[in-house]
Amino acid sequence: MVERMLWLLMLVLVGAEGATLNQTVRAPSLQPAIERGLIKLSLGLQKASAASTARGENVIFAPLSIAAVNALLLAAATGVTKKELETLFGVDGVPHNQDDLHRLLSDFIFSVETDKQLEQNLMSANGLFPDYHNEISPEYIAFAKNFYQSEVIPLDYRRMPYESTEFINRWVSNRTEGKIPQILDDVVEPLTSLIIANAFYFKGSWEQPFIEKYTKMQNFTINKNEVIKVPMMVGILEVPFYQRKGSHKVIGLPYKGGDLIMYFVLPDKNLTAFVENLTLDSVKELMNHTTRQKVITAIPKMRVEASVELSKALFSLGLRSLFSGWTANLDSLGKGSFVSEVVHKVAVELTEYGTEAAASTSVIIHRDGSMPLFRADRPFFFFISHQKTNAILFWGTVFRPVV
Ligand SMILES: *[C@@H]1O[C@H](CO)[C@@H](O)[C@H](O)[C@H]1NC(C)=O
Ligand SMILES: *[C@@H]1O[C@H](CO)[C@@H](O)[C@H](O)[C@H]1NC(C)=O
Ligand SMILES: *[C@@H]1O[C@H](CO)[C@@H](O)[C@H](O)[C@H]1NC(C)=O
Ligand SMILES: *[C@@H]1O[C@H](CO)[C@@H](O)[C@H](O)[C@H]1NC(C)=O
Ligand SMILES: *[C@@H]1O[C@H](CO)[C@@H](O)[C@H](O)[C@H]1NC(C)=O
Ligand SMILES: *[C@@H]1O[C@H](CO)[C@@H](O)[C@H](O)[C@H]1NC(C)=O
Repeated sequence: MVERMLWLLMLVLVGAEGATLNQTVRAPSLQPAIERGLIKLSLGLQKASAASTARGENVIFAPLSIAAVNALLLAAATGVTKKELETLFGVDGVPHNQDDLHRLLSDFIFSVETDKQLEQNLMSANGLFPDYHNEISPEYIAFAKNFYQSEVIPLDYRRMPYESTEFINRWVSNRTEGKIPQILDDVVEPLTSLIIANAFYFKGSWEQPFIEKYTKMQNFTINKNEVIKVPMMVGILEVPFYQRKGSHKVIGLPYKGGDLIMYFVLPDKNLTAFVENLTLDSVKELMNHTTRQKVITAIPKMRVEASVELSKALFSLGLRSLFSGWTANLDSLGKGSFVSEVVHKVAVELTEYGTEAAASTSVIIHRDGSMPLFRADRPFFFFISHQKTNAILFWGTVFRPVV
C-alpha cells in the first residue's frame, strides 16, 4: 500500500492588537454548541500541550486557527473521522445541515472586518497544497474555496521537495507580512499528499495604549530560584478588572473597536495548578466577573513564540482515526490520506503600541493606595476573546517572557 501522507500545518501570528469579527448568525441552535466547543477545545489543547511540553515552558496556540484547519478536514471527512471531528466542535448530537455548520464555522473563523482607519488588521488565509499526483475531489476544492476562501496550489513533492518547501515558506511569509519567514524548517517528505496551511495575522491597537517612555526594566520572578529583568509596560488604565483574594486577579485590555479583548490572569500561587483546574464555566467566569475600574497596570513587553506539533494533543482530544491510513476517512482528499503531522506556529507580540497613539494620550502615573494593582511580574496566562461570541482567538501560558 502506498503510504499517503497528509501534512497539516498552521501558522499564526499575533501582532499587538485588535480587530472586529464580522459575525452573522445563521443557525442559532448550533452557535452556542460551537461556542462551548471552541472553549473546550482551548482548554483541552492547553492541557494536552502542557503535558507534552517541559514544565515551565510557555505554551501558546490559536484555537480559532486550529479550528479552521479542523473545519477543512471535517469538510473532507466521512464515517468515524467525521464523527470525531464533530465531537471536537461540540456539534455531535446537535441536528444540523452541513452547509449551515460550515457557514457558521467559517463565520467564527474567517469573517473578519478590517478597519484600516483604526489600524486594526486581522487577516486569515488558508492554503491547500495537494501533491500533484493526488486525486483530490474537485467538489472539495470548490467547497474549500467557497466556504473557507482557501487557495489550492498543487506542488510536486516527489520530484521537487526542496522547491515545494520553499514555496510554502514563502507563501506563509507573504501572508504574515514577513513575520514568520520559515514555518517549515525541514524539507517536506516526498510522500506527502497534502499540506494545509493556515496563516493568521493579527494586528491592531489597544483602546488605551501604554506610554513607551514609562517602560522600564523590572524584575520578573520565574520561580523561587530565578528572577529575570523584563521591560515592563506600566500605566493607569480604566479596564475590566476582578480580584479574588487568595486566588487570582484578572484584567482585560480591550482593543480599539471594542470587539476583542485580551485577558491576563495572574494566579496568586501556582500557574500550572490554576490552569489545570480551569473548566468551561470558570473560563467564562474569569471574563464575566470583571468590572471596569481604574487599575495600576504593569505587563511585560514581550514576544512569545512557540512551535508545537499538535497531533498528540489532537489525538488525546479524541481525533483517533485521523492519524493512520488504516482508519482515517478522508476520501475527498485522495484515497488512503491521513494526517502525519500537525505543525502549529504562533508568535505573540505585546507592545505599547504605538508611539503615535501613545503620544496623544496622557496618563499620569502616581501612587494611589485606593487603586487596585495588576502587576504581571510572575507567571501568568492570557487569552484573546471575541466578546460577542466568547470565541478564543489566542491562548497562552507565559512562564518566561522574552523580548
Ligand atoms: C458582514 O459581511 C457582510 C458580507 O461581507 C456585509 O454585507 C455586512 O455588512 C457585514 N456586517 C457588518 C456588521 O459589518
Ligand atoms: C505578497 O504577495 C503579493 C502578491 O504576489 C504581493 O503583492 C505582496 O507585496 C506580498 N507581500 C509581502 C509582505 O511579501
Ligand atoms: C530584583 O531582583 C534582584 C535579584 O533577585 C534583587 O536583588 C532586587 O532587590 C530586586 N529588585 C526589586 C525592586 O525587587
Ligand atoms: C505547581 O503545580 C503543579 C501541578 O499541580 C505541580 O506539579 C508543581 O510541583 C507545583 N509547583 C510548585 C512550585 O508548587
Ligand atoms: C480548583 O477549583 C476548586 C473549585 O473551584 C477550588 O476550590 C480550588 O481552590 C482550585 N484550585 C486551584 C489550585 O486553583
Ligand atoms: C458568569 O458565568 C457563569 C458561568 O457561565 C454563570 O454561572 C454566572 O451566572 C455568570 N455571572 C454573571 C455575573 O454573568
